[in-house]
This record gives sequence, C-alpha cells and structure tokens, in this order.
Amino acid sequence: MEIIEIITKKKDGQELSYDELKFVIDGYVNGNVKDYQMSALLMAIVCNGMTEEETINLTKIMIASGDTINLEEIHGTVVDKHSTGGIGDKTTIILVPIVVACGLKVAKMSGRALGYTGGTIDKLESIDGYQTELSKEDFIKQVNEIGCAVISQSGTLVPADKKLYALRDATGTTQSIPLIASSIMSKKIASGASTIVIDVKVGNGAFMKTIEDAKALARTMIAIGESYKRKVICVLSNMEAPLGYAVGNGLEVRECIDCLKGNGPKDVMELVITLATYMVSMGKNISIDEAKKEVEKVIEDGTAYEVFTKWIKAQHGDIEKIKISERCISIKSKESGFIEAIDAFKIGELSEQLGAGRVVKEDNIEYGVGIVLSKKVGDFVLENEEIAKVYIENKDIKVDDVLDCFKIGEHAYSQKLIHEIIK
Ligand code: URA
Repeated sequence: MEIIEIITKKKDGQELSYDELKFVIDGYVNGNVKDYQMSALLMAIVCNGMTEEETINLTKIMIASGDTINLEEIHGTVVDKHSTGGIGDKTTIILVPIVVACGLKVAKMSGRALGYTGGTIDKLESIDGYQTELSKEDFIKQVNEIGCAVISQSGTLVPADKKLYALRDATGTTQSIPLIASSIMSKKIASGASTIVIDVKVGNGAFMKTIEDAKALARTMIAIGESYKRKVICVLSNMEAPLGYAVGNGLEVRECIDCLKGNGPKDVMELVITLATYMVSMGKNISIDEAKKEVEKVIEDGTAYEVFTKWIKAQHGDIEKIKISERCISIKSKESGFIEAIDAFKIGELSEQLGAGRVVKEDNIEYGVGIVLSKKVGDFVLENEEIAKVYIENKDIKVDDVLDCFKIGEHAYSQKLIHEIIK
C-alpha cells in the first residue's frame, strides 16, 4: 500500500477501505506517514467528505491506536459531555461539578483550542498548578474519590486523535463532519462513558455554520455511538455570538466561578442547565423535570461550587491564582444603538491573535489574554460607553477590529440559544 495512492483516491472522491484507513492512521502515529502527507489527506477529507461506514471505521481505528478505559473500575454511573467547539464555550468547567453534586461521576478527557475555538484543557491550565496529565490509575482513583477528573489527551488514550487534532488545528482542516465526529467519539468511547451529551454548536463561530450541517454531524455521532451501544444525545446550540461575556482562557475560568457562585451570565446558565439536566436525567434515569430541579438546587445551595474546589485541588490547581493579564484596554463604542449582533468568529480570531489560541501547533498559549464583552446582543450602548475590554500581553490587536465585531442598529433582537435536541 502507498500513502500517495490513498491520498489520490480520497482527492478523487472515492471511499477508503478499513485497511487503507488503518495503514494511514497507524503509519501517522508511528511516524511512517509524515505531517505533510497526513495534511494532504485531511484536506482531501475536508473537501470530499466520508461515508458513514468510513467515519465509523476511522473512529474504530483511532480508538485502537491506544488504551481504552474500563469504567467498571469506577463505582457509580459515569456520564460525559463534549462540545464541538465554540467561542466563550466554558460549559464543561461549570457542569462537571454540577452533575457530580447530583450524584453522578465524570471521567473526562478534553481537548485544547482548535482553530479559532477554545479548548477546556487550555482554560484549566490557566489555573496555576492544574495538572492535565494523570496516569490511568490516578485518573480512576480521583474519579472514585472526588467524583470527577478532567484530563488532556495525554498518555495512551487515543494517541491518533492527539496528533491529528494538533495537525488539523494548524492546517485549516478542522471543519469536517467525519473528522469532528471521529475525533469526538473516539475520545468519548475510549474513555468509557455509556451516556454522552454532545453540545453541537451552530453558527458563524462554530465549525457547523448551518442547522442542516449541525444535524448531519449530530446524526453521525449518534450512529457511531450506536455502533458501540452508547447512549448519545445532541443539543444543537447557537454560536452566532460568543457564549457569556468572557473569551480567553483565564478570563473564562473566572466567569465559570461566577456561574458556580450563582452569578453567571444568563445564556451560559441556560445552556449549562440544559446540558446538565440531560446528563442527570439519562444518568439517573429520572424525568427531565426532576433532573432540572436537582441541577438548580446544587447550584443554589453551593454544593456544585464545593465539588469544583475539591476537583481543582485534587489536580493541584490553585483557584486563587488564575492567570489574567494586568494590561486591560477599555474599548468604547463610536455610536449609540442596540447591539444587533456580535460576530463570534471574529471575536474568536482576535482572541487567537492576542495569543489565547495557537496559530502554529508549537505556539505557546498566553493564558491571561482575551476579550470580555461589556454588552450582549439586545443590549443598548451609548456613544463613548464601554463595549468590551481587551486583555493584552505580548501581542496587540486594533481597536477598530474589535468594534467591527459589533453590529449596532435600531433593533433589540434576541437570539434563540437552544435550537433542537436530537436523540
Ligand atoms: N472537539 C473535538 O474533540 N474534536 C474536534 O474535531 C472538534 C471539537
């Protein structure tokens, strides 16, 4: 088998066999297939797609590239959640302690920033000392003791995704239903959860720009889940505007703490409560209404915040020390009017330019930088009133580029946050 023949076959829009996919993925993991060859194949997949069978085979091969966790060693019901990636999407950090406070277990493997979207692991690393790498034994021990652990794709779980994810991030090959579905589902299946809620983002700040594409991605992930007898529910949520106010690693963690203390932005809380409710309802086999009441109670009575502090401490993080840049610039509106739209994609790109994400895969993250909106869609802004704050370290962005993210007009629009639930 020759790698060039396989790349050419996909470039010509043909279906790849299980053996061909295995040759490429195994070869990439062991170094026989080079970054430039894998990039060419990824681009051909982005352009020509994959059939459902190819996508399921790709997922299977990625899972087999490393260890899988047998969650039978964990006492209790394990639930999991994943997002397809958005701007200001910090929900994992808030809902993990919520569902644990409701009596479930979360043994979670999360990703880093991908393209212009943020990643949970980069956010957690903005907490001084937080260890994102745990051995399999310590991971299971922590979940049994604390109720949860959130680790990076280090070590031996799905090494194929770890390498591919970093390459996709740096080669413009993130936006593809089969690549996203196999990346997410390989991690979810390898880390063992039987019940998985996936937040499929849709809009200009998401990889899926239309509801149709988001539905197709949801159906692909559900089909992969079914082939492994996993219960998968997809929540299609709006990503036209950033979620919450904060975009950037440390800034988002600070907002998560506000949410767990009961002072979170309305949109973040609505999404967190929806996702957590489905996790609790499926995990405990109770009605949606009962689950929602439990979720709201553990936020209100502070139990979820208590779990959060225990979890971060268990992974050696110090929540008193979150990296946030000291240089902060206030951006003032040049006109008065209602905020009709905030371009999530542009905010994500600007945040990446400030250093919150990686432009090349070797880049180091600047954990403290980012943008905090002072206004949300539907709010009124006066001329000269603050519309956003920009947190800067070593890289600058132009004030006008920030202002261009806001569409100001005469209408007080509101945006629908949850589009649909697909089971
Ligand atoms: N999240 C992942 O884990 N992988 C993707 O490809 C996109 C979002």
